Amino acid sequence: MSVNDKAIEVRNLTKRYDGLTAVDNICFEVRKGELFGFLGPNGAGKTTTVRIITGVIKADDGTALVMGSRAGSLKAKQVAGVVPEMANAYNDLSGWKNLLLMAELYGIASGEAKERGEVLLKDLGLLERKDGLVKTYSKGMKQRLILGMALISDPQILFLDEPTSGLDVQSTRLIKSLIKSLNDKGKTVFLTTHDMDEANQLCDRVAIINKGKIVAIDAPERLRIATSGRRSVEVSFTDSVSVNNLARLPSVNEVQKIGDKYRLYTDAPGDLVVTLVNFSASNKLKIISLNILAPSLEDAFVALTEKEHGYV
Ligand SMILES: Nc1ncnc2c1ncn2[C@@H]1O[C@H](COP(=O)(O)OP(=O)(O)OP(=O)(O)O)[C@@H](O)[C@H]1O
Ligand SMILES: [Mg+2]
Repeated sequence: MSVNDKAIEVRNLTKRYDGLTAVDNICFEVRKGELFGFLGPNGAGKTTTVRIITGVIKADDGTALVMGSRAGSLKAKQVAGVVPEMANAYNDLSGWKNLLLMAELYGIASGEAKERGEVLLKDLGLLERKDGLVKTYSKGMKQRLILGMALISDPQILFLDEPTSGLDVQSTRLIKSLIKSLNDKGKTVFLTTHDMDEANQLCDRVAIINKGKIVAIDAPERLRIATSGRRSVEVSFTDSVSVNNLARLPSVNEVQKIGDKYRLYTDAPGDLVVTLVNFSASNKLKIISLNILAPSLEDAFVALTEKEHGYV
């Protein structure tokens, strides 16, 4: 990647709070035009990283560049739109006024701000409620407005910290499809999430962060393939069976009971299907359903973060 291709460049970034290393010597790069996912469980260090890159807090060590400018500098802030984790709009102003206020902060001419604002509110499904006070908005409406506020400056790069967290299906869908279409139009997106499906559906590449450390960076599909030992067969029988009996079958690495189904992890799903058919016949059971599953991104995530814990 040449210098000009880089939207974000993070080198050896570290942030400590008292005895805790929230971000532990992380390095990564995001290309211009990329939709980059930053995936990790609660407390992994996602928000801390975003706050450093967007200039809200300072790192203890390391460097971060945004479009070639130092994180926190005016230049870096001018090219970025941010939807923070705890974002808020002014409750006693209308959605429309909030948007215009944000535009003013960025020094955008009023005519242009109004034009852009109308388009954004329409895309966000808020046009009809634009003059209502924000305190009368639902959580989903507020979050959509906050996304609009991050976009009013037409930023080159968009930072989103769990933008769909706690929202209903409709708002989530709208926000996801807007993120996708912004990226299709060339915007770089840095998306923080703990939702594997969201990362899988949207992202070109995903970094997995756990306990302040990056444990993997790759395309979602490649992360899945990288954990091929986590292929599985999911089976359900007419009667319940003991997990221990299933775990003793040849080529089974691990068994999980999920509702009325059993998920058997294996390196050889084809052989295991034959074994299961024989097992059900010899135990006078009938198979209700049987599926071979590719490892999900969630499986990859568990495998990669457990490795970090030293369990694997
Ligand atoms: N201001 C702070 N003071 C002390 N500790 C902090 C502070 N901010 C974050 N931490 C700690 O740093 C770690 C990383 O927190 P961070 O908010 O970055 O995680 P996260 O990945 O965003 O989690 P979540 O998914 O819950 O939003 C946590 O252990 C958290 O308690
Ligand atoms: Mg967070």
